[in-house]
Amino acid sequence: DKGTYPYYMAKEMDEQPAVIRKIIQSYQNEAGNLEIDQAIVAKLTASDRIYIVACGTSYNAGWVGKQLLETLTHIPTEVHLASEFGHNMPLLTKKPFFIFLSQSGETADSRQVLVKVNDMNYPALTLTNVAGSTLSREAEFTLLLHAGPEIAVASTKAYTAQIAVLAILAEVVGKTVGLSEENNIIHDLGIVASSMESILSEKEQIEKLATDYLSTTRNAFYIGRGIDYYVAMEASLKLKEVSYVQTEGFAAGELKHGTIALIEEGTPVIAVITDERIAGHTRGNVQEVHARGAHTIVIVMEGLEQAGDQFILPKVNPLLSPLVSVVPTQLLAYYTSLHRGNDVDKPRNLAKSVTVE
Ligand code: M6R
Repeated sequence: DKGTYPYYMAKEMDEQPAVIRKIIQSYQNEAGNLEIDQAIVAKLTASDRIYIVACGTSYNAGWVGKQLLETLTHIPTEVHLASEFGHNMPLLTKKPFFIFLSQSGETADSRQVLVKVNDMNYPALTLTNVAGSTLSREAEFTLLLHAGPEIAVASTKAYTAQIAVLAILAEVVGKTVGLSEENNIIHDLGIVASSMESILSEKEQIEKLATDYLSTTRNAFYIGRGIDYYVAMEASLKLKEVSYVQTEGFAAGELKHGTIALIEEGTPVIAVITDERIAGHTRGNVQEVHARGAHTIVIVMEGLEQAGDQFILPKVNPLLSPLVSVVPTQLLAYYTSLHRGNDVDKPRNLAKSVTVE
C-alpha cells in the first residue's frame, strides 16, 4: 500500500532511514554486537578472492561492496555483471567465494551463474530482500536485506540496504581476522540513518534542481572518482530508467579521453564529491566541463563544499558515503520523471524482476 504517497518510489526512498535501523537491529545480538552466521565468516576468511555477481542496481551496489570488503577485510574482490560472467568466466582463483546480490532473488542472469558456481562446488552467498526466493534457496548461504517489499521498478531502498548489509558483513569478517578493530559500523550506520532523514527533509531543494536542470534536457552526465564514481553509475541508471533522459555515469578523469566531446551549452553534468583525497581532481573536471558550457551541479560532503555548490551532504564515515550521496540522486530521478509526466513506478519496457536471460 502506497498510503498517502503518489508513487511507491517516493515511499520507498522515504523508508530508507528506517530500513538502515532495521538492518542494524537485525544483525545485532543480545550483547549489542554485530553477528553473522559463523559458517559464512569461516568460508569468507578462508577464501582468497571474493566474486560479486549481479545486475543493474545490485551490480552498482556491488562496486561499493568491493570497496568495503577490500578495505575492511583485505580480501581482493571483483565485481561482475551476471550476464557477462556466465558466458565468459574469468580465470578463478583457488579459493573463490561468490556473493550474489539480488533484491528479488529471481534474476535469471544471476541464477545461471549460481547454477554453474554450485556445479563447481564453490561457496555462494545470496544477499536478497526475498526470503525463499530462487537465488536464496539455491545458494549455500543467504543474508536478508530486511528492506520490506520493494514495488517500484526503480530500486532505491534495496540499493542502500545491500550496501549496509555488505558493510556489516565486511566489518564482522574484518574483525575476525584482526582488522578494522577501530571501526564501529553500528554507530556509523546510525549516523547514516539520521543523515538520510535530513536529506529527505530537503526534497523541495532537490525538486527545484530537477526543474532547473533536468526537466527538458535530452542528456545528462554524472561524474565522480572512486566511491563517488560508483554512485555516479547508480545515479545515472536511476535517472535514465525513470525519466528516459539519456545519461552516463562517468569516471570524472576519463571524460577528457572522449566523452567531453558531447558537452555542449546547457548539458547538465552532476558531480558527486565525498572523498577528500580526490575532491580537488573532480573539481578540476567540473571546471573543464563548465568552461565548455555545461550546467554543473555539485553534490558534496560537508567540509568539502565551496561557494556555489548546489547540495551539501551531512558528514558520515567516508566508506559509507554512498548511502547518503545516492539519496539526492534518487530524488532527482524521481522528480525529473514526475515532471515529465512518466509513470514513475512502471517505466516503459521494464519489469520489476527480470526472469529471462
Ligand atoms: O532483483 P535484482 O536485484 O536481481 O534486479 C537486478 C536489476 O534488474 C535491477 O536492479 C534493475 O536494474 C532495477 N530496475 C534498477 O532500478
